[in-house]
Amino acid sequence: MERSLSMELVRVTEAAALKSARWMGRGMKNEADDAATTAMRNVFDTIPMQGTVVIGEGEMDEAPMLYIGEKLGTGQGPKVDVAVDPLEGTSIVASGGWNALSVIAIADAGNLLHAPDMYMEKIAVGPEAVGKIDLNASVTDNLKAVAKAKNKNIEDVVATVLNRPRHEKIIAELREAGARIKLIDNGDVAGAINTAFDQTGVDILFGTGGAPEGVIAAAALKCLGGELQGRLVPSNDGEIERCRKMNIDVNQVFRMEDLVKGDDAIFAATGVTDGELLKGVQFKGSYGSTHSIVLRAKSGTIRFIEGRHSLSKKPNMVVEL
Ligand code: FBP
Repeated sequence: MERSLSMELVRVTEAAALKSARWMGRGMKNEADDAATTAMRNVFDTIPMQGTVVIGEGEMDEAPMLYIGEKLGTGQGPKVDVAVDPLEGTSIVASGGWNALSVIAIADAGNLLHAPDMYMEKIAVGPEAVGKIDLNASVTDNLKAVAKAKNKNIEDVVATVLNRPRHEKIIAELREAGARIKLIDNGDVAGAINTAFDQTGVDILFGTGGAPEGVIAAAALKCLGGELQGRLVPSNDGEIERCRKMNIDVNQVFRMEDLVKGDDAIFAATGVTDGELLKGVQFKGSYGSTHSIVLRAKSGTIRFIEGRHSLSKKPNMVVEL
């Protein structure tokens, strides 16, 4: 993959973030998602690649755009798998909460796990704790391993967990072990990525969230030198059957090399609302400002990009509410 694609992809997440951020706090998550999806789809037309959506807004018959199998890009350039989440955290935007992102991950064709839209149990850490975690081990053992790897006491380790009743046992075990906990209402992609940055204060992510989000977060962590392990959690017979048809063993622990194969991947994310790592979109007068991160696995380069967008010169970025 050409390195210049990284800079092209951030234009896509910037556009989606600028459009969906207008819906912040308005209680309309579908409108926010539609705005992000349409903006993202439009900018993809200008990107020099032969992309195929492997993780997107749904199957062809249920999503008008960015559906699985959709071809993206100009039709010139590298053949790539594309995983998108135009708005990761639709409810976050609806309530004006923390950590909504627009995200894209790409890898050479065939290299991203085609994760079905169901739950995935996940554990994720940044570079210092790579090789030390194990999804099959207990919460306490994983905490001990991360504490040791990061030269911290368990009481100083911060674990992020989605605040859901299904995580009652994990939360109880974390409390019992003495760790500090950051309960998040939504957004486990940001939760996973944050483990790779000291300034977020987060050391490890535990818990079950979307499987597509798991692959997207794994792509980011691959670029960052971190690690995510995941196991699908089918919640009904239909989902079990779906795994069977895809030849996926539901007990399999997906590791980095299963989630994102090969030695390269590119990840781009733009903050829609404020988060620990990225600022959300701000508007003033005829400008919109964005804060993004762009990552490439092959080079290991991490770029934070601040954009100031003239909405009068880009009228397609203006949202009529
Ligand atoms: P949406 O953007 O689709 O609202 O997803 C947000 C999210 O919190 C993800 O970050 C997470 O993986 C998933 O939802 C958790 O699902 P659930 O809300 O069903 O627990």
